[in-house]
Amino acid sequence: MKGCVIFTLLFCIFCTSFVLCTKYEPNWASLDSRPLPSWYDDRKIGIFIHWVLTIGQIFSMHQGLGELANSIRKKTNIHFGEKALPELYELVNKYKPDIVWSDGDWETTDVYWNATQFLAWLYNESPVKDTVAVNDRWGSNIRCKHGGFLNCNDKYNPGVLQKRKWENAMTLDKYSWGYRRNARLTDYLTMNDLLDTLAKTISCGGNLLVNIGPSSDGTIAPIFEERLRQLGQWLGVNGEAIYGSKPWSHQNDTITPNVWYTMQKATNAVYAIVLDWPKGNILSLGAPVYSSKTVVMMLGYQGNIPAKPGSKGGITLNIAPVPADKIPCKWAWVFKFVGLKN
Ligand SMILES: *[C@@H]1O[C@H](CO)[C@@H](O)[C@H](O)[C@H]1NC(C)=O
Ligand SMILES: *[C@@H]1O[C@H](CO)[C@@H](O)[C@H](O)[C@H]1NC(C)=O
Repeated sequence: MKGCVIFTLLFCIFCTSFVLCTKYEPNWASLDSRPLPSWYDDRKIGIFIHWVLTIGQIFSMHQGLGELANSIRKKTNIHFGEKALPELYELVNKYKPDIVWSDGDWETTDVYWNATQFLAWLYNESPVKDTVAVNDRWGSNIRCKHGGFLNCNDKYNPGVLQKRKWENAMTLDKYSWGYRRNARLTDYLTMNDLLDTLAKTISCGGNLLVNIGPSSDGTIAPIFEERLRQLGQWLGVNGEAIYGSKPWSHQNDTITPNVWYTMQKATNAVYAIVLDWPKGNILSLGAPVYSSKTVVMMLGYQGNIPAKPGSKGGITLNIAPVPADKIPCKWAWVFKFVGLKN
């Protein structure tokens, strides 16, 4: 009897791990059923360091990128996947990355890249199977449809809530992913531009991937350093509206333009990211509904902001008592609401 129980137990352990091992099949329906690890959604912001060489290859999928690769593909039976795949396995096994961010997919289809076969291995057997997040650039026919989070096109920022987790991969230099010696100051995003992009992205359920291009000797240009430090400074004050947040019932305001909302998962507090300082220090918002329990704060500032019901519903804030030298940030102010009616 005892032996029998032990045998059954062992069999069950074996069978459970076997089932777990082959959980995901190498097809998109099965791969798309894998939940995106929650750390990815909570993290919200990433920095992309993009070393673009004028000649050469930047990442595995790029082994098959460009005109030369295309003509080789057409005229010979040399298969770039035969080179890219073993390198991808090696990269994952050796460096155990949190993210596998595929690119260069537009050259040809997922079938050519053996993408589903790789992802099934990544999700079932790899050393990062439970933690890794991947994007959607796994073939010219795949982006914006399948994979982990959706990048769709570069600088994708739809401005409305999306059903699936997505990422806005964008650059601080408006015209390049790599370093440009001939860039002008006006070619770089200002802090207002960057925070406008950030607010819109996070409100609509996206993550932001901020790209900078180091120079050929590996240095980071002071303009990139300044922008990243300013972003850090802004997040130091306003991070609770961003990290660990989720989209609210409204993404932007119904009355005042350039106001974007988030909600903190842990507390249900609602945040309004206000990109333009309100005229006359009076801010009228249509989306948050005032109740007698409503308390409003500005992040980084001690004390509450006087609030009352708006004339057509919503809420009106009177920011007048905030002295200029107590305003915590130079760009984009965040108001926190607790005890709203909605
Ligand atoms: C890619 O997939 C094809 C068909 O499933 C298979 O024959 C081939 O061996 C795979 N290539 C690699 C490098 O795994
Ligand atoms: C809110 O966002 C939508 C979609 O981006 C836009 O069409 C609308 O004009 C915005 N509303 C305001 C008040 O700015």
